[in-house]
Amino acid sequence: MAPAPLPIVRTVAELRRHVQAWRKDGHGVGLVPTMGALHAGHLALVDASAKANGRTVATIFVNPKQFGAGEDLGRYPRREAADVDAMARHGTDLVFAPSVDEMYPDGHATTVSVAGLTDRLEGGHRPGHFTGVTTVVTKLLLQAMADRAYFGEKDFQQLVVITRMARDLDIPVEIVGVPTVREADGLALSSRNEYLTSAERAIAPALHRGLRRAAEAIAAGTPARQASQESAAAILKAGFASVDYLECCGADDLEPLDQPDRPARVLAAARLGTTRLIDNVLVPPP
Ligand code: PAJ
Repeated sequence: MAPAPLPIVRTVAELRRHVQAWRKDGHGVGLVPTMGALHAGHLALVDASAKANGRTVATIFVNPKQFGAGEDLGRYPRREAADVDAMARHGTDLVFAPSVDEMYPDGHATTVSVAGLTDRLEGGHRPGHFTGVTTVVTKLLLQAMADRAYFGEKDFQQLVVITRMARDLDIPVEIVGVPTVREADGLALSSRNEYLTSAERAIAPALHRGLRRAAEAIAAGTPARQASQESAAAILKAGFASVDYLECCGADDLEPLDQPDRPARVLAAARLGTTRLIDNVLVPPP
């Protein structure tokens, strides 16, 4: 007999009905928020949730509030049927795929923002982006009321911001970070890699190479500022059009660090043709 098809719900009321029934049956619940166009990075989050929770709900919502004017909201890849198939194969129990009107009905006026942590790095280059992220993630967390919610280290600043937000607002959920899934040549999987031409795809791994080179130099004692400048230059030389930032930061507070005297991470964003890629790596501890 074929397995029952994975249910897709589009309203908060239906989502809550499913989650309440699971809870009544004693199941723990994991939540995996995504914007769809799934790849193995997203599916690693689903796998982590399915392993640790009796039931997993994955969400697909291309959140307009986290895209700035002139960003790629209009061309962001959408392929719900293939996403739902992949989620089913990885042990998802329910897909929540709301419309924009369901998430932001007429009159929606409340936003959530995290001060300080969102000023720099991505926040410095994408004004309003994190308020869009924290507003939608707060809504998803309160809609699903999961025990655990899964986010990728690929978007490291997002993971730190969401962890702080859940703590500050006493949202009763454990935020779980999942390591970045990469191609064999080091390129971090991203839905935006689809925008790359084949010539750009060949250049793209230079971002991860540059980050690793900086992290290793910093671990070996090179001042972070110098290591970062050298890596940014190597990324440009490889063919990237510009580097928005490449910086060594404290892993918990994202404050700039010149010497890694506590857990540190090197984060970068760079443009390749019309595509903006982000990535980050751990500075190896001594
Ligand atoms: P999206 O870009 O679809 O990513 C969904 C989740 O997958 C995020 O937690 C992201 O960090 C994780 N992810 C993406 N690429 C990954 C990779 N290569 N390895 C591991 N994890 C990876 O991030 C968002 O959507 C949105 O901002 C969202 C949190 C859904 C709010 O709208």
